Amino acid sequence: MSDLATLQVHGTIGVLRIHNPPVNALSPKVVQGIKNAVDQFEADRRLQALVVHADGRTFVAGGDIAEFSKPGFEAKTFNGTLARIESLDRPVIAALHGTVLGGGLELAMACHYRIAVEGTRLGLPEVLLGILPGSLGTQRLPRLVGARLALDMILSGKPIDAAKALDSGLVDALVEPGGNDALLERALVYVQELLGAGKGPRRTRDRTPAMEGIEADFFDKALAEAKTKKGAYPAPQRIVRCVQAAATLPFEEGEAVEAALFEECRASPQSVAMRHLFFAERAAGKIPGVPADFTARPIRKVGVLGAGTMGGGIAMNFANAGIPVTIVETSAEALERGLGIVRKNYEASAAKGKLRPDDPAKRMALLTGSLRVEDLADCDLVIEAVFENMDIKKQVAKQLGTVCKAGAIIASNTSTLDVNILAQASGRPADFLGTHFFSPANVMRLLEIVRGDATAPDVLGTVVKLARTIGKVPVVSGVCYGFIGNRMLEPYLRESEFLMMEGASPAQIDGAIQSLGLPMGPCRMLDLAGLDVAAKVVIERGKAGGLPDDPSYRAVVQKMMALGRFGQKTGAGYYRYDGRNPVPDLEVERICVALAEQHGITRRKSSDISDEEIIERCVYPLINEGAKILEEEIAYRPGDIDLVWVNGYGFPDFRGGPMHMADTIGLQKIAARLDHYGSQRGDRHGYWSRAGLLTEMITGGHRFADWPFN
Ligand code: 3HC
Ligand code: NAI
Repeated sequence: MSDLATLQVHGTIGVLRIHNPPVNALSPKVVQGIKNAVDQFEADRRLQALVVHADGRTFVAGGDIAEFSKPGFEAKTFNGTLARIESLDRPVIAALHGTVLGGGLELAMACHYRIAVEGTRLGLPEVLLGILPGSLGTQRLPRLVGARLALDMILSGKPIDAAKALDSGLVDALVEPGGNDALLERALVYVQELLGAGKGPRRTRDRTPAMEGIEADFFDKALAEAKTKKGAYPAPQRIVRCVQAAATLPFEEGEAVEAALFEECRASPQSVAMRHLFFAERAAGKIPGVPADFTARPIRKVGVLGAGTMGGGIAMNFANAGIPVTIVETSAEALERGLGIVRKNYEASAAKGKLRPDDPAKRMALLTGSLRVEDLADCDLVIEAVFENMDIKKQVAKQLGTVCKAGAIIASNTSTLDVNILAQASGRPADFLGTHFFSPANVMRLLEIVRGDATAPDVLGTVVKLARTIGKVPVVSGVCYGFIGNRMLEPYLRESEFLMMEGASPAQIDGAIQSLGLPMGPCRMLDLAGLDVAAKVVIERGKAGGLPDDPSYRAVVQKMMALGRFGQKTGAGYYRYDGRNPVPDLEVERICVALAEQHGITRRKSSDISDEEIIERCVYPLINEGAKILEEEIAYRPGDIDLVWVNGYGFPDFRGGPMHMADTIGLQKIAARLDHYGSQRGDRHGYWSRAGLLTEMITGGHRFADWPFN
């Protein structure tokens, strides 16, 4: 007998109690426990009603996602149990709290009545995992809330709150918050009220979905939209077909449609990739050397030094989470300009309806500008986002080491400098780390957290936790040039430039990369970021002795900067710009021809350079660099690297990130192609030298998914 779900008896009421911490996911044992409890309830004729209730912080938050990848997985057992619950001849009431998601909501919808604590969130987020609700969610939700809202909820995966659930008919009554025991007590009272009023079972399956606002071509339009906007994903089009089935077919027929389409989604490589990312995100919070029960330092006030492109965006993250920020600048003009941009950003969001009208003022009130670094003395965390220059940053670190109170955390937003040197300069290396936000810092989800040699475990743990509070995906990186993301970007950009000098056009390179599902190829990305910024990074690195002894290395971007072609902002870069539209520019070809001649690079006809070659030459070295990063323990796991690329660089989630994609392609193939390009091009600079780890993995028959192997 499973004790993860049991039947308890309260007078004449049965209580099906689910207890599978932390989120009561529906593991096979829980499903078995529910089935047994239903057997017992069926047999016990003294019981007049059944309450379904879960322990801990939430009602069931979904099917057990780990189970979906196991051989022999099938949804049938649970669906059969739900059908039995719905068929019971005495009323069944679900008592809901926390996050009622996926299989949890499907369980609740198979019950006859639902009550929920105020603030409960209810939804079907399966689409975010590349699947669709597989336990009749697509059939029961339209019958409760109507086809339009159901389709909206299932396609977006976004939960609704209890108040909206009450309005739309998904729940029948709200309960004031007061803890789990109080919820159960309230549910038992609710049952008595039902029984007193002579109310019996009320089966969702017997209802007809409300079709308000559903015109004749509603589903055709929804299908076409899912195809255009989300064609690369397996679930959206199938979700439309399921909800259409709910709206037009008898329940049993809709059930068969859902079962078949669920299985197609579950088995798809895209869903496997998205499920991988779900677990990668959770694993990334587990950091070697930081105990699970570490005590976080309280962060009640944050300081930001520098109100430029990054400083303003960084400050917004904290204000959005209700944390007050002091921003320090060197001049009143710079401060005014920085805060002005933040205000404009907030006002634009409010104008688009993304914020309430009074939010901009409320958030701005949390930001205090200052010209005195001493005003950061009461902050619990200070992030410097001043110019990227070692001397300036060292000076700033030293100043912060003196000004910040004892116990405060000091962070640098540097993108290229050695965090260990800055940590030493602060005089408080244990309190110091890197927080590498991505631009725009208020939008991009990724936060690379750079662990210095001396960073204290509680400092690292605190910042990882705080990152989640402000809605970021934190990934810890060790210290190296470019950390995880930009270090891997380097060989990708290197090859894209060599391809240009060999004869491929920027549009051709971008087209090949975009065919993988990235929103932008390397040329458009750099045009947007600024070719001056990109070239300066290369030049600075060269000065520091960090470049290969190869004058053709990143020659294109440096030439572009010298010619004043800074990208979109100057109207020309790798493309010419017609407004914001990139237009191929013959001048770029002339520049590349001249560079090829200068560096002795043989040109080919662009039509002789295939998309396959572009993808292999840009992406395989990037994967190879990822393997080197793992080997050097700069990243703790392949999944961490995947998160960096999906959340920081637009790598498509349906490919699971570069390391997951490497498994899909096959490591042997990748190694063979690296060797091929190495021998074809002559590898004087070691551009194609394989990571030792890659060879080791091939010999051992490992995949990145098997990490850690030993
Ligand atoms: N299956 C398996 N494990 C799950 C899980 C699930 N559905 N949901 C959460 N977990 C695990 C996490 O992996 C994590 O494990 P760890 O501690 O070992 O890393 C632990 O539960 C706690 O999760 P979080 O760290 O995410 O906790 P939060 O409190 O931040 O968030 C949550 C809680 C909102 C429930 C969030 O975990 C979540 O969104 N979970 C996924 C919900 C979901 O997608 N449900 C649908 C599943 S698919 C389904 O039901 C199919 C059905 O139609 C057949
Ligand atoms: P920026 O030039 O837009 O802003 C820097 C600001 O710092 C300026 O407003 C300047 O007046 C101010 N400043 C300089 N010295 C100061 C001091 N001693 N005290 C207070 N303020 C001072 O630069 P940006 O782009 O915001 O970059 C900041 C940091 O973030 C750099 O380390 C950069 O490498 C890093 N970064 C930048 C990204 C980007 O896309 N712009 C992405 C990720 C990191």
